[in-house]
Order: sequence, then structure tokens, then C-alpha cells
Amino acid sequence: MKENRRNFLKKTLYGGLAFGVSGYAGLTQYGSNPAKENEASAAPVAQSKKGKSVMGLRCEPIPEVRIAVIGLGRGADAVNRLSHIEGTKIVVLCDLHENRIKSCQNTLKKLGRPEAIAYTGEEDWKKVCERDDIDLIYNATPWHLHVPISLYAMKHGKHAVSEIPAALTVDDCWALVDTAEETQRHYMMLENCCYDFFELTTLNMARKGLFGEIYHGEGAYIHDLRSLKHSKNGYHNMWRLEYSKKHTGNPYPMHGLGPVAQIMGINRGDRFEYLTSMSSNQYGLTLYAENTFGKDSPEAKATYKLGDMSQTLIRTVKGHTIVVVHDTTSPRPYDRIHKISGTKGYAVKYPEQKIALEPNAHEFLKPEKFKAIMEQYEHPLSKYIGEKAKSVGGHGGMDYIMDWRLIYCLRNGLPLDQDVYDAAAWSSIVELSERSVLNRSNSVDIPDFTRGEWKNAKPWQVIDMETVFC
Ligand SMILES: NC(=O)c1ccc[n+]([C@@H]2O[C@H](COP(=O)([O-])OP(=O)(O)OC[C@H]3O[C@@H](n4cnc5c(N)ncnc54)[C@H](O)[C@@H]3O)[C@@H](O)[C@H]2O)c1
Repeated sequence: MKENRRNFLKKTLYGGLAFGVSGYAGLTQYGSNPAKENEASAAPVAQSKKGKSVMGLRCEPIPEVRIAVIGLGRGADAVNRLSHIEGTKIVVLCDLHENRIKSCQNTLKKLGRPEAIAYTGEEDWKKVCERDDIDLIYNATPWHLHVPISLYAMKHGKHAVSEIPAALTVDDCWALVDTAEETQRHYMMLENCCYDFFELTTLNMARKGLFGEIYHGEGAYIHDLRSLKHSKNGYHNMWRLEYSKKHTGNPYPMHGLGPVAQIMGINRGDRFEYLTSMSSNQYGLTLYAENTFGKDSPEAKATYKLGDMSQTLIRTVKGHTIVVVHDTTSPRPYDRIHKISGTKGYAVKYPEQKIALEPNAHEFLKPEKFKAIMEQYEHPLSKYIGEKAKSVGGHGGMDYIMDWRLIYCLRNGLPLDQDVYDAAAWSSIVELSERSVLNRSNSVDIPDFTRGEWKNAKPWQVIDMETVFC
């Protein structure tokens, strides 16, 4: 069944760009998501291992982390953040736009950093990965390039980190896992929301048992991107609008899911077992186009498959549940939800941060008590680097905390906080939610990307503060 499915998909859907990454089909221009009606339970659940597990992988410490940043939209902010971190060197800047390279060179200059080597060709990322003076490929390109660049990087001996989502298909999630295991390189998806202040504090509280057994979590990405998606000056070649035309389900689950999954010990003591997903009709992109470009414009007449509201329910092997929501096309305020529900308490982040704890969890904590709890349980990592993070910036500081911690781990030979199994599990929801939506919300199995390692993996302590201070 799996073989047939793969062959069918290769013949019909993988006809696009071939990136020459051995063993895996290339992606079509805007993702190769093969969600197909009546195949709701066809997700592969196990594959044979191609290398040693990379759970808890430790590599040789790298005193100075030599970095290539590929994709200089959001990647330009990374250049700035990374240049504020001790022990980094930006060796290469790679983008199709000369002006973006130039602007990043200015950033480097302003911060007293040497000029980087520039690459501007469509496939120059291959040359970049082939260089022998780079330790880390920092990939901030559009979605369809995440997997080919990451695989190529690891196959050329580099550690690879990628913007979210790590991959758009289950097959590509497996490709990342297999390649990380084969090459014994670090792979991390850059899920910055795991490093936001309230999320870190609730993680710390969870580990200290304040919420009891956490059996339910909710997370979301609700962010009105209608004007950006429809702007010719927004995303490169309007990649996000193109994806919205071709796919439904939840293409961006990890902002809400990542922090909740970490708190609930996913891949370390528990794992996602199956999901069911439902999407509403699409109105937002069409209405926006009608109002902006006119009712008869091609933008208004186009078909957009991405439902405005996507809701996915995940059940874990332990019998816990998670709700993941996505909506980037509605007139609503920004919201990542972040709800944590346990036998002893409850936390919610939006629209206002609140905590309720037994024995009086009928009510939220009063402001003074809330403030005291936030101070008492602030995560040591944000305590340590939070002020600097706020001053450098990046979504209020969380992006800097993420980058700082990544570099810290690489320099000290420590395992990364998020590994390839997290990236695969969180990103697999992209294809699997679409599968479920296209099959009347029937349930779909979620593969065990750890191949059973989750059972013995120790509860993840997020950030081992013993080591942060050494
Ligand atoms: N974690 C977050 O908070 C966050 C926020 C914004 C964007 N993102 C992610 O960052 C990624 C980039 O998003 P963006 O908003 O910067 O998009 P963008 O379209 O503004 O920028 C992408 C850049 O990649 C470059 N690029 C395209 N093809 C390339 C190639 N072949 N070689 C080299 N460079 C190439 C483009 O020229 C462009 O400068 C996406 O994956 C997005 O999901 C994450």
C-alpha cells in the first residue's frame, strides 16, 4: 500500500524541480503535499532505520560557529541576532536579491563584523553547503526549499536549522529523520515560540508539577496575513498565496503546537497517535481581493483551497489531547492561544496571560499573586538572557533566546532543545491535517518518527540550566 502510494505520488505529483538529493523525490514548486481523498489512514507508521538514533545527540563542541544564512527576508533578522552572539561568524550570505545581501552586509559592518561572502544564484545554496568552512546552515527560505537545502546541508557534513515548517509532507519528514540519523548531524526546526517568556515559564511550572498531570493543551497560529499574502512586494514570488491556492488543512501548526508538545513530553514519554481535522470554507482571501483589486480581478476569481479556520484534534498514546488551530485570513487579533490544562491547574496566554491553580482553580489568580508566580517560576534561561534578548529584539526577544541557546549548545557540544524528531512530528501535521480534512475529518495515524525511542526517552527538561551557566 505504501509502495503503491509513493509510486503514484512520484508519477503524478513530484514532477517538479529535482534537487539531486539522493534518495528523495524533489519537491514541486509550492510543496509536494499529496493529500488525497480516501487515503486518510495511509500515513506510514514505521520505516527501517538508516542510521543510529540522534535522540540526545552530542557532537564535537564548536568554539566559533561558522554560519551560512540562506534566505534573507526573515533571515536578515537572524543575521542581526546572530551577530550579537559571542562565538559566531557569518561566513556566507545567500539570497536571490542583491539588495537584501547588501543590507545584511551593512548590518554586519555596523556590528563590527567582517563582510560575508555573497551568493545570489537560484541553486547557489548547493555551493554554499559544499563549502568546507561552514558549520551551520541557517535556512530561512520559502517553504518548498526547506527540505532540499537541509538534506543537502547534512549530507555535506553541516548542522542544519530551518525555518518553519521543517517539511510539508510526511515523506519529507522521514527524509529529514533518516538523513540526520545517517549523517549524525544536528537538525533543528527554528520554532521560536518555544522560547517566548510565558511559554518558558509555563514549561518550568509544568516540570515543577504545578499543573499536575497535563492531559490537554491548545495552541494556534491566528494572524491576519491577507494583505501580505496578496502583496506583490510581500513574500518572494507570492509563495504563501500560491500555497493557499493549492492546499487546505493546517500548513503552519508549530507556533502553537511546539510549546504545548514540549510541555506535554511529546517524543519523550508520550507521542502523537492520531488526529482528526476540519476546515471551514474560505472567504478571507477572496473578499480581500474583491475589495482591493475588484470583483472581476484574477485575484478575486482565483480558487483558494486553504479554509479560513482549520482545527485539528490530536490524541496521544497516553490518552492526552491537543487542539491546534490555524487562521491567517480572518479579521481577528493575533492569537497563539497557549492553553495548558492539568489535574491541578490551568494556564492561558491570549488575549491575557492568566493562571488558575488548585485548590481554587474556579478563579484565575489575582494580579499580585499572578505576578509573584511569574517571578518565582520564570525560566532560568529567560532570566539569564531575557533582558539582552529584549534589547536585541525579534518578536519581543524570543527569537534571540532561541538563537542564543542554539549557538550555546553547538559551542558546548550539547544536545539541542528541539531535535529532528520534534521537527518531523510537528511538521507531519501539515500533510496529515489536509488528509483528514479531505476525507470528512476521518482520523489519520501519526507516524512514530522516533521508532519507539520515545518510550525510554527521559522527560525533557527543556533547558538544562546546570549547563547553561557552565
Ligand atoms: N518563525 C517565525 O516567526 C517566522 C516569521 C516569518 C517567517 N518565517 C518563515 O521564514 C521563512 C521565510 O519567510 P519570509 O517571510 O522571510 O519570506 P520572504 O519571501 O520574505 O523571504 C524569503 C527569501 O528567500 C529568498 N530565496 C528564495 N529562493 C531562494 C534561493 N533559491 N536561494 C536563496 N534564497 C532564496 C528570497 O529571495 C527571499 O529574500 C518561511 O519559512 C517562513 O515560514 C518564520
